Amino acid sequence: MGMRILGWGTALPDKVVTNSDLEKTLDTSDEWIVERSGIRERRIGDSTAELAIAAGRQALERAEVDPSSIDLLILATTTPDQTVPATSAHVHAELALGGGAFDLNAACSGFVYGLVTANAMLEAGARRILLIGAETLSRITDWEDRNTAVLFGDGGGALLLERVTDEGQLLASDLGIDGSARDILKSEVGGTIEMDGREVFKRAVRAMVDSAARTLERAKVSPDDVKLIVPHQANIRIIQAACDRLGIARERAAIVLDRTGNTSSASIPLALVDAIEKGRLREGDLVLLTGFGAGMTWGSALLRWQELDQSAAATSSMSKAAKTEAVSEDD
Ligand code: ACO
Repeated sequence: MGMRILGWGTALPDKVVTNSDLEKTLDTSDEWIVERSGIRERRIGDSTAELAIAAGRQALERAEVDPSSIDLLILATTTPDQTVPATSAHVHAELALGGGAFDLNAACSGFVYGLVTANAMLEAGARRILLIGAETLSRITDWEDRNTAVLFGDGGGALLLERVTDEGQLLASDLGIDGSARDILKSEVGGTIEMDGREVFKRAVRAMVDSAARTLERAKVSPDDVKLIVPHQANIRIIQAACDRLGIARERAAIVLDRTGNTSSASIPLALVDAIEKGRLREGDLVLLTGFGAGMTWGSALLRWQELDQSAAATSSMSKAAKTEAVSEDD
């Protein structure tokens, strides 16, 4: 049992905030922000539910599946719209999904945590899962603090996943947390993000490299075999350092942070979908997702890419026994 990807979607607010816009209110410069982080602009606006709904709807439409055939919605977010109920309740109702729904908070590793959880739920019997990462970090950003305000943005990304009877696309994964480092990056209830940037930087590189290396080892795959690495989009220097240490060419990294800033749980799906839409993935390519975040959490997942038409072909050529396991629209 495993999973395959049936569809994907993204959402970004309309409002673009450039580094030059920030220069007007903060003691900072476009040059500093680009050189230290790689970020040129970010999108600000909407609610977490609105971004999640837009990304989720695109994924459902691309996959051409009936929303009521979804067994579970997992919404990875650190910026829910309310404390109670979960933001996934709003998204579930708006998209008219079937099954259950819950929010998952593993900070910027949230999407990878969600993917591994979804895979396990599919192995346990769920048939279709909508996985969304959506954030409105602008709501918990102190716009007067230049140490953090230049880094974050809002956005959403989604994958629609289906159970398959073979191994599926998720080959190996690694999840972890070092809760003793929980104070180096935090936001109190009702507060804004506080961060020891240098400490986060150091630990981020180490955490991503170790987690990614464990994942490759579990799949018995060498860094050379990785066609695309989709790292959490926090800082271009963190990404480059991690690629160098892993022995993966920097050109193989998917990058959107120049246009989005750090969108936490949304950053990996935004970067993955950008790479898909640029035609960077071919049937059979190995894709390594790897992230770190507040907690400090980390998570990596190795996927074998399957073209959508190939996955459809795989379904139609399944044996009769296997077909009974596949989901049909009338289920
Ligand atoms: N503009 C101009 N100067 C600035 C700015 C700014 N926006 N921000 C800080 N500075 C100054 C500092 O005050 C400091 O000045 P000083 O030397 O006079 O004290 C100087 O620039 C250098 O500061 P550093 O913190 O050493 O700069 P660094 O090169 O480490 O870059 C950064 C800072 C970009 C924050 C980096 O440390 C980083 O990316 N850390 C990781 C952050 C991260 O990934 N956070 C997200 C985690 S994911 C999540 O869960 C949300």
